[in-house]
Amino acid sequence: MDRKEFLKLCAGGCLGLFVLETMLSGCAAQKQVNALVVDENLEVPLAAFAKMKDGEITYLDSVVVRNPQLQYPLAVFRFSEDVYEALLMKCTHQGTELKLYGDTLQCIAHGSEFDNKGQVTTGPARETLRNFPVVKANQKLFISLK
Ligand code: FES
Repeated sequence: MDRKEFLKLCAGGCLGLFVLETMLSGCAAQKQVNALVVDENLEVPLAAFAKMKDGEITYLDSVVVRNPQLQYPLAVFRFSEDVYEALLMKCTHQGTELKLYGDTLQCIAHGSEFDNKGQVTTGPARETLRNFPVVKANQKLFISLK
């Protein structure tokens, strides 16, 4: 192998690593939580937001909550110890299930985006996402589905 072939091989390898890293970071999965429905409330343990990092407990900014009775999951955002927001992951344009990336909910159908308060940041959707009242008690979140 001569020098030119060697450099070509290295460049291809570096490009491959970059593409792989980009793909993996784009696939960073949100935590999925299966929650119970009790008396018209979705019950989410607060522990669902906790994770260990360097021997300390830290908290996730959001989790995706599912239940077989719900057609769409909910994105639940943690703004502080006592402030949470629960949003239906249903695009207000034509009803496609949204994907959660960080603080943004994205629609793969036509590109709409919503922030962590459910506000439209990119159309064609125009209406905010449906949200649900959240009450914290007994180490759980009670998300009212009424
Ligand atoms: S259904 Fe979501 S942007 Fe059209």
